[in-house]
Amino acid sequence: MLNIVLFGPPGAGKGTQSQHIVEKFQLIHLSTGDLLRSEIAAGTPLGQEAKLLMDDGKLVPDEVVIGMIDNKLKANEDAKGFIFDGFPRTTEQAKALDDLLKSNDDSISGMIALEVPDEELISRLLERGKDSGRADDQNEEVIKNRLKVYNDQTAVLKDYYSKQGKFQEINGLGTIEEVFGRIENAIEKA
Ligand code: AP5
Repeated sequence: MLNIVLFGPPGAGKGTQSQHIVEKFQLIHLSTGDLLRSEIAAGTPLGQEAKLLMDDGKLVPDEVVIGMIDNKLKANEDAKGFIFDGFPRTTEQAKALDDLLKSNDDSISGMIALEVPDEELISRLLERGKDSGRADDQNEEVIKNRLKVYNDQTAVLKDYYSKQGKFQEINGLGTIEEVFGRIENAIEKA
């Protein structure tokens, strides 16, 4: 199995690049952000609760996202592998993911972190917010809060995977094709 954590701050290009990775490597794309937005669109109680946190750029509780990933892994037991986008976001989530994969004699193959400067991230997200309808892209204050949450709670996962010899960092600036070329090289190494 090829299991890749595609990592990076909000706006780094995780969702965009995941589409290309899925096409090339036939992996299943698991985005906790997309799963949560589906719950919101369906008006479920989970979605209503998550929306309040997401609109402020705060993290949804670990047990909620871990439960969603657990369900998706079980529903795709025949998959060639997974691309995890926006998950894990805390050490608790990373440990839970390791345990879930281990129970299937599986593990993370590598983490690929997209590096993009804050000014570029803010500009990309404000631009997308003009027509995406994503509430958390609408104003700079919420975007800056998402970046703060990433730096305070999520960036530490680079060390988590580095200690396992699974961490690779790549430049997330350039055209989508250029960035994808770097990701392909990193996946070959993983
Ligand atoms: P989530 O949906 O995961 O959002 P995010 O991490 O903030 O990331 P984005 O989707 O904004 O950016 P991205 O890196 O995917 O970039 P994209 O390809 O879209 O999470 C949303 C919320 O859900 C969280 O804040 C939290 O509340 C909750 N949540 C989700 N997962 C959770 C978890 N595990 N635990 C707890 N809470 C969780 O690109 C961005 C823009 O840039 C696009 O317009 C794109 O066209 C453009 N772009 C992409 N690549 C390039 C390029 N190379 N050059 C120029 N523009 C580019």
